[in-house]
Amino acid sequence: MSRMADDTKFVLWLLLLNCSSLCMGSDPDVQCLKTLKQSVIDPNGILKSSWIFDNNTAGFICKFKGVECWHPDENRVLTLRLSCFGLQGQFPQGLQNCTSMTGLDLSCNSFSGPIPSDISVQVPFLTFLDLSYNSFSGQIPGIISNMTYLEALNLQYNQLSGQIPWQFNLFTRLQTFNVADNQLSGPIPCALANFSSSNFAGNQGLCGLPLDDCAGTRKQKLRLHRINDESSIGAASGFVVGFVVAFYFPRLFVFAQRLHPYFFRIR
Ligand SMILES: *[C@@H]1O[C@H](CO)[C@@H](O)[C@H](O)[C@H]1NC(C)=O
Ligand SMILES: *[C@@H]1O[C@H](CO)[C@@H](O)[C@H](O)[C@H]1NC(C)=O
Ligand SMILES: *[C@@H]1O[C@H](CO)[C@@H](O)[C@H](O)[C@H]1NC(C)=O
Ligand SMILES: *[C@@H]1O[C@H](CO)[C@@H](O)[C@H](O)[C@H]1NC(C)=O
Repeated sequence: MSRMADDTKFVLWLLLLNCSSLCMGSDPDVQCLKTLKQSVIDPNGILKSSWIFDNNTAGFICKFKGVECWHPDENRVLTLRLSCFGLQGQFPQGLQNCTSMTGLDLSCNSFSGPIPSDISVQVPFLTFLDLSYNSFSGQIPGIISNMTYLEALNLQYNQLSGQIPWQFNLFTRLQTFNVADNQLSGPIPCALANFSSSNFAGNQGLCGLPLDDCAGTRKQKLRLHRINDESSIGAASGFVVGFVVAFYFPRLFVFAQRLHPYFFRIR
């Protein structure tokens, strides 16, 4: 009797063991990549040809193009590097199931639409996030600052608008930050003041260090306006006066012309 129970246990145990290698389809990370593949447009067929899900060997996803695993025979994604794959569509879906992912590079594709407002919930442990050279639009979610391990944030060359969130003052490990060539405006959070000004260039309305002082740019613009107004009024009135004088006192001009040589000599 107890012999049979032991056998049953053994069979159950075998089944469990088998499942851990055969039921890989239910691994969250496999689900993550499946969902991602389905959610993006892949005109170059890179994912279509490389991300094949019919081999369930442990670690099979680690051979996929752009996928780096923690360990080569474990289906656990460390980083996703999909740079310049020609991908289109919205920000990919399913990433929440890549539960131990620490890096995401979607740069140099044609992604569009917003950066998800729950991105810090989807991929909380990223150390780098590169969304540069796409067509992402809308505001930068302030919640990105909840990704407390973030060391590099690259958002340059998109169509992001609005302000840089004040919450970006809360980053503690950020070493790389770039928002150049977007449509951002408003003051730059103080904690970002030490990054190079080129990392903020190409935005019409950004101000504050490392760019020009916010109040300063406004005052300067006002002053320029005033000078322009004054000088155009001055030029217009000068023209009218000159015209009237020339019209009524032509001799004065002739006289002035005769005086010219003297002026030059005196100088
Ligand atoms: C499945 O993937 C493993 C590891 O990548 C590889 O060694 C094996 O040959 C593959 N099997 C098939 C049937 O493709
Ligand atoms: C994560 O995977 C499970 C199944 O394993 C699925 O039901 C769920 O929708 C997935 N979540 C996301 C965000 O794709
Ligand atoms: C983000 O972090 C703040 C402060 O740490 C916390 O209050 C807030 O609930 C977090 N939000 C999310 C969506 O995790
Ligand atoms: C910028 O760098 C200087 C010196 O490297 C440092 O003293 C200062 O605290 C930094 N400022 C910020 C906002 O990080």
